[in-house]
Amino acid sequence: MRRILVTSALPYANGPIHLGHLVEYLQTDIWTRFQKLRGNNAIYICADDTHGTAITIRANQEGRTEEEVIAEMSAAHQRDFSGFGIDFTHYGSTNSEPCREVCEEIWAALRAKGMVIEKDVEQLFDIEKGQFLADRFVRGTCPNCKKNDQPGDNCGSCGQTYTPAELIDPISTLSGTKPEIRTAKHLFVQIEQLHHFLDEWTQSGTLPKESANYLKNYFLHEPLRDWDISRPAPYFGFEIPDSPGNYWYVWFDAPVGYIGTTKEWCDREGEDFTSWWKSPDTEIHHFIGKDIQYFHTLFWPAMLNASGYTLPTKVHIHGFLTVDGEKMSKSKGTFVKAETYLKHLDPAYLRYFYASKLSAKITDIDMNLEEFAMKVNADLIGKVVNLASRTARFVKDVGLSETYPEDDGLFAAAAGASDEIAAAYEAGDFARATRIILALADKANPFVEMRAPWELKKNPEKAQELQDVCTIALNLFRQLSIYLAPVLPGLAEGAAALLGTEPAKWDDVKTPLTGSPVNKFKHLMQRVDPAKVTKMIEESREEAPAPKSSLDLAPEITFDDFSKIDLRVAEVIKAEHIPEADKLLKLTLGLGEGETRNVFAGIKSAYKPEDLNGRLVVMVANLAPRKMKFGISEGMVIAAGPGKDEIYVLSPDSGAKPGQRVS
Ligand code: MSP
Ligand code: ZN
Repeated sequence: MRRILVTSALPYANGPIHLGHLVEYLQTDIWTRFQKLRGNNAIYICADDTHGTAITIRANQEGRTEEEVIAEMSAAHQRDFSGFGIDFTHYGSTNSEPCREVCEEIWAALRAKGMVIEKDVEQLFDIEKGQFLADRFVRGTCPNCKKNDQPGDNCGSCGQTYTPAELIDPISTLSGTKPEIRTAKHLFVQIEQLHHFLDEWTQSGTLPKESANYLKNYFLHEPLRDWDISRPAPYFGFEIPDSPGNYWYVWFDAPVGYIGTTKEWCDREGEDFTSWWKSPDTEIHHFIGKDIQYFHTLFWPAMLNASGYTLPTKVHIHGFLTVDGEKMSKSKGTFVKAETYLKHLDPAYLRYFYASKLSAKITDIDMNLEEFAMKVNADLIGKVVNLASRTARFVKDVGLSETYPEDDGLFAAAAGASDEIAAAYEAGDFARATRIILALADKANPFVEMRAPWELKKNPEKAQELQDVCTIALNLFRQLSIYLAPVLPGLAEGAAALLGTEPAKWDDVKTPLTGSPVNKFKHLMQRVDPAKVTKMIEESREEAPAPKSSLDLAPEITFDDFSKIDLRVAEVIKAEHIPEADKLLKLTLGLGEGETRNVFAGIKSAYKPEDLNGRLVVMVANLAPRKMKFGISEGMVIAAGPGKDEIYVLSPDSGAKPGQRVS
């Protein structure tokens, strides 16, 4: 029996759980459930990541303390996770005493190794807000790849880490002003001292190949930069014991939350903490997204190495979720919160769908909403659940046959796939595991079709054959439900309840059930109703703020440019039809003191001549005369609107006199 400690990244306490997060928490849950089903001693540890300026800002906005905000978020996160059947052994918080203790212990170890140095840092200071700016409240252009609008700590485009002061054209996202550079003392960890160790560890098979190669080529081929891990007050976090007024940067204490939360659980359960985090007999598996790999593959192993904790056996790294081929979008309604999903759809659908998509690769995974409904309905309901729903009722009174009938080798074949399926789960290739399982279902279904129990039912003489066929179908269903149990624990429980057995263990796939009663069939799962998917998307849609460019403004002009245009109040002395013209009216405009101008105006579609006679309008009086088909136009009347019957001639307020300049 292996002893395995599994973690997911600790979600930030400043936002709700959404479908993107769930890729990771479901992936980890499935993997941990698989390990338990195999009989291993696996625990799943997670916590809210609570520190940093984001929480302070939010607390201030809401007139609450940071502690109140994180308590509420933690409850909300745990509600969402449990709604999706995510089964943590313990869920903690980085803002806890055990976490502080472990931070202090690791810190002392780094100090003792001479890895901590002090340096003056130029940090951005928001003058309007009167505070130093946390990395995430600065955005600007990446100094490495020059991509604009990147956060202050590392580039979302090229992955480079840097300091906020290195950003090009920084802007404070708190006030929208350009921050000023000020000097502050910061503490740094010299991870370069562990270069040799990191070189070996990152290349030792603990990471996906792509990540290992990337680190080797882009980070480890030159000296590693000192890591800035302190922030001056105000900061919501742990104060550094030997550096009053300075706090550990959130990314220092966040991963320590893995250890601190385990410690909290051990204290509560009377478990031996050292055997989980300081024993070579325990495997440690981190599951994280590709956006936070440098923290977990460089800084974190350095901290663990320096302090004598166990290094991760594996860091499993997944890609990002896209919906219908695009980044999740609030305006499109594809930024779906866990809570919103649960209002409309069965969590089992998402568990199954993600499992069918997840591999050990770092590539992004796409949730095409049509494919989502199709996969669940055609495969899960159509091929797996149907095996039971089409047969169970025929044996409700008689139970399963006393001996397992001849089934063309179907049960044996499915039992024989056990190692292959287990290997796929173990490797994190759930897509492959579900493919193999579905291929077994594809053999079971034609068998049931061919033997047609619903026909046998009509003939009392075929009662034994009917019982045999149903015994086979239900045993094949049970095998599938066990193989799928890590993904769909509810289905496995339903199968066990139907067949009156104990909760499944992996090796139960090897022995068929015979001679036992069959309970009344209860619906295990409904088909996906596409209307509900649509409703969920509708409910998630948020009005996008009007894009700045929607006005489609003409290029900027100077005041001098504007003053070249001589606009005058004019009186319509006469407005006439031109019979041959379908758009134009001929206007005689008076500018006072007997001055008149002839203007052809394209307003016939919206105005009758009699509506205009005697009205005051505004004209461009210094426009070069233009020769037109019906005469010379000596100016232009200004009007608003898109055209046709939507043309609105502008008029001055009453009192204006013809000839007055408009400026
Ligand atoms: N608090 C840090 C992690 C600290 S771990 C010591 C953090 N939090 S997060 O809430 O932003 O993200 C938590 C996890 O969810 C990360 O591993 C991240 O990669 C993952 N995901 C967040 N959005 C995601 C998608 N859209 N798609 C897939 N995974 C995503 O990072
Ligand atoms: Zn970049």
